Amino acid sequence: MKNVFIFDHPLIQHKISLLRDKNTNTKEFRELVSEIAMLMGYEVTRDMPLKEVEIETPVGMAKTKVISGKKLGIVPILRAGLGMVEGMLNLLPMAKVGHIGLYRDPETLEPVEYYCKLPVDAEEREMVILDPMLATGGSASAAISFLKQRNITNIKLMCLIASRTGIERINKDHPDVGIYCAAVDEKLNDHGYIVPGLGDAGDRLFGTK
Ligand code: PRP
Ligand code: URA
Repeated sequence: MKNVFIFDHPLIQHKISLLRDKNTNTKEFRELVSEIAMLMGYEVTRDMPLKEVEIETPVGMAKTKVISGKKLGIVPILRAGLGMVEGMLNLLPMAKVGHIGLYRDPETLEPVEYYCKLPVDAEEREMVILDPMLATGGSASAAISFLKQRNITNIKLMCLIASRTGIERINKDHPDVGIYCAAVDEKLNDHGYIVPGLGDAGDRLFGTK
């Protein structure tokens, strides 16, 4: 596994445990996904460049730093990635939001695209793809390919739980893309679900099952 950053912060690990619990209800699940996304966003943006500015405080001049020009975008993969948007926007209120609609065909497990809308200046931005689950990696790999087809080159992938298989798939298809996650699980079951994982992220977020 290459290019993977696993967040071991105690707050993130604690919240991931609550998220995995099958007794966590939809409201709690949604809140946790949003909170974890915000905590992870803090680390994902660690390499943002700063520039020096001069600011007048009530008692004098300060040479200080602000984020320099680098523009960021976030791209949730529908549906489940939507759960991570609010947390990221709390941290990055100026970020533009694109959407990619994909679902996994339950038979083939292959991703099927049904929607794609990106910010007009997406190619000038660093784009962070959001999806709680990286299972076979098919959906994330397809989403990254869509961005690359639109000349977007600066891409990160942020997920909550990743499988080894999913990470290896992204490493193979997109060796240039960094993967940021809170946990790596060893197995997928016959339906392509991460084991132990947390179940179906979209259903648990939106109460559809
Ligand atoms: C889930 C999840 C990912 C995908 C991961 O979405 O949110 O997008 O599966 O699986 P993969 O790595 O094997 O491609 P799903 O297809 O269930 O759609 P939904 O979000 O609309 O429920
Ligand atoms: N999609 C999910 O929501 N959960 C998994 O475990 C795998 C794919």
